[in-house]
Amino acid sequence: MKVNGKAYRSIWEKPGDEGIIQIIDQRWLPHKFIIEGLRTVDEVSAAIRDMHVRGAPLIGVAAAYGMYLAAITAPKGSRFDTYLIESAEKLISTRPTAVNLAWAVGRQMANMNKFYSVSEKIVSALTTARHIADDDAGQCRKIGEHGAKLIREISERKSGETVNILTHCNAGWLATVDWGTATAPIYMARNQGIDLHVWVDETRPRNQGAKLTAWELGHEGINHTVITDNAGGHLMQHGLVDMAIVGSDRTTAAGDVANKIGTYLKALAALDNNVPFYAALPSTTIDWSIEDGLKDIPIEQRNADEVRFVDGLYKHQGNCQCENEITEVLVPPEGSPAANYAFDVTPSRLVTGLITERGICLANKESIAELFPDKIIDK
Ligand code: MRU
Repeated sequence: MKVNGKAYRSIWEKPGDEGIIQIIDQRWLPHKFIIEGLRTVDEVSAAIRDMHVRGAPLIGVAAAYGMYLAAITAPKGSRFDTYLIESAEKLISTRPTAVNLAWAVGRQMANMNKFYSVSEKIVSALTTARHIADDDAGQCRKIGEHGAKLIREISERKSGETVNILTHCNAGWLATVDWGTATAPIYMARNQGIDLHVWVDETRPRNQGAKLTAWELGHEGINHTVITDNAGGHLMQHGLVDMAIVGSDRTTAAGDVANKIGTYLKALAALDNNVPFYAALPSTTIDWSIEDGLKDIPIEQRNADEVRFVDGLYKHQGNCQCENEITEVLVPPEGSPAANYAFDVTPSRLVTGLITERGICLANKESIAELFPDKIIDK
């Protein structure tokens, strides 16, 4: 997608140097556009843990490239395989909720294990990372094509009047390789000439909506308005939301959806107001081994300082050395403890449907299995 009119992906190999993986360091958006080069598995692990890159699909792709960097920097003797195993464990432990991470690392290990020589393993790791990245972009494009039909239906029902879509967190192209999940139908519908507008939940504590979703929608010329996390219910009560589309970090085989904290409350409000509530996700986000999201999805708890502090661009009339610098400020009293639950689980009964690369299905075991018969695990 575009930044100042130039097309970008969220992760790529440095042209002319395959040993460096480049990312947009998302900690500085929207105020600074900084590209970072990653050279080792430790650098990739830190980039995932500290959220230079984030969003379930992108975390998976970054981890896949992390395994490739592990392979090219590993000691070449008898410790090679052990180093790969340790690297895999290191990457998987960075963030617990998004299942794409373990899935991508597992696929890398399985493919490398098919070869004996170090050079073959390295080639395999690079090929697999490229496949995972390209597949993600392709899957998100497909999600866009399927989801745009839903937006078109609403637009037709409203005789071409603006379709208002609410989204939470950033499930845009910055969270994937390209297109995004929740945003792909929006971009695709806009390309088809449908008049739409996006309500962007700011998404405390890290404000991925206000910072990232607003930034990418702005660069793509999509009408949008940033709202506080608590505004969605009010807007729905007043008929100002036609549909909600969110992403997912892990969806169970029975359709429970783990996503950024606050998603559940939006789904509750949507049900109460007859607003269709969709989760858009590639099948790499489905954990086929579990059905009960509340019981089986690990919920990441992050540093409480993310709740206590907010950061942004310092803007003030007058002379200050911090003018136009990114500044952090403390919000609650110094001594108040804070808790930082990063995700919640929206039970399938609150989800109108799942928009996947293979089409749209209901959020239940049977409907998901019908779309993905090849993925079902017999227990
Ligand atoms: O903590 P984050 O920023 O990694 O959380 C991201 C989300 O919750 C997204 O909505 C989710 O990963 C889906 S992204 C396509």
